[in-house]
Order: sequence, then C-alpha cells, then structure tokens
Amino acid sequence: MELIFATHNQNKLLEVQALMPSHITLISLQDLGFEEDIPETSGTIAGNAIQKVAYLKKYYDLPIFADDTGLLVDALGGEPGVYSARYAGEGKNSEDNMNLLLEKLTDNNHRDARFVTAIALDLNHKQTLFEGICEGSILKEKKGSQGFGYDPIFQPKGFHQSFAEMSQTEKGAISHRAKALFQLIAYLRDVN
Ligand code: IMP
Repeated sequence: MELIFATHNQNKLLEVQALMPSHITLISLQDLGFEEDIPETSGTIAGNAIQKVAYLKKYYDLPIFADDTGLLVDALGGEPGVYSARYAGEGKNSEDNMNLLLEKLTDNNHRDARFVTAIALDLNHKQTLFEGICEGSILKEKKGSQGFGYDPIFQPKGFHQSFAEMSQTEKGAISHRAKALFQLIAYLRDVN
C-alpha cells in the first residue's frame, strides 16, 4: 500500500523509512513536490498530528499519516511539551532550544523527562491515533552528533548514551517515534 508521511523533516523521514516494512511504500512531501508549511497550532501534541493530517487531506486523497513530538521535562512542569519546536522562540533552532533547556535545569539534579510522539492516520476517511513514549533524562551537557532536535541532551532510561550517540538502528529500536510507528504498522496489517 501507499502511504503519505506528512513531514518536511528529513531526519524524521529517514528514521521512519528505515522502520517501514517493504509492503508499505512511503510517499514523502518531497516526492509530491509539496513545499507549503503545514500548520501546527493546536494546544496538544495529538492535536497537532491530527491537524497536519487534516491539512494534507485537503490536497491528497490517499492514506496519510503525520507525527508530532514533544519533550516533557518533569522539573519544568512538562515544558517544553507541545512548544518543543519553538521553545527558545520563533526563528530559533535546536541548538538554541537545547541551550535554553540546559540553562533552566542548571544545578537541578531532578532531570527525568520523556519524549512523547503522537501519530495520526487517515485511512479511507477514518482517523486513528497512536502514541509512543520514551522515558529518560536530560544530560548536563550535549553528547553525540547523530539524530536531530534534542537528541544530544536526551539519555533514554537504561542506556549510558544520548540518542545522538546512537546509530539510527539503535534509536529506532527504543524511540518514542518507533513505538508509535510499530502500532501504526500493526494496525495497517490488521485492517488489510
Ligand atoms: P515536531 O514533531 O517536528 O513538531 O518536533 C517538535 C520538536 O521536537 C522539534 O524541536 C524537534 O526537533 C524535536 N524532536 C522531534 N522528534 C525528536 C526526536 O526524535 N529526537 C529529538 N528531538 C526531536
């Protein structure tokens, strides 16, 4: 089957491509020549994933899914959460976001955090939502150069490396996005 993945994030696309079984053909926005920004103005992570799918659905009548991810830090009351992409402000990048988070946690030893991914799917005009969570903690400094976003400062529970020190395969075995994606893949297997 063919499935559109509604993201402009090439890192996400590569992670998801690596995990998709061969009977599912992933169509990227680049494949479609779709360059418009997709709005994500909902107040929740799941709401943003649903909003992205609904937006693409106006253009393409094919099965579509989108993901939205947030990093929730306990000591900051769940910040940056739904604001993870623009934590340091509009026009700022992942380095700025990580620096702000490290600054806010200076001298704080309570560093528990989790990544939460929501995946929304529209298949034959039926919407389904999947969620994946990866527990871990915020490191005191950046480590590693793989991955993207907050990966250099996030260490998943039970590991001694940050996500950015892991290969795509290692991250793909335990990540929030992979967990949500595995549910999506199982669902697609059951409905076919
Ligand atoms: P979005 O899901 O693209 O809206 O991402 C929200 C924010 O979380 C962005 O700053 C991303 O860079 C970051 N992010 C999303 N997924 C990951 C991940 O797997 N690792 C690290 N950061 C991520």
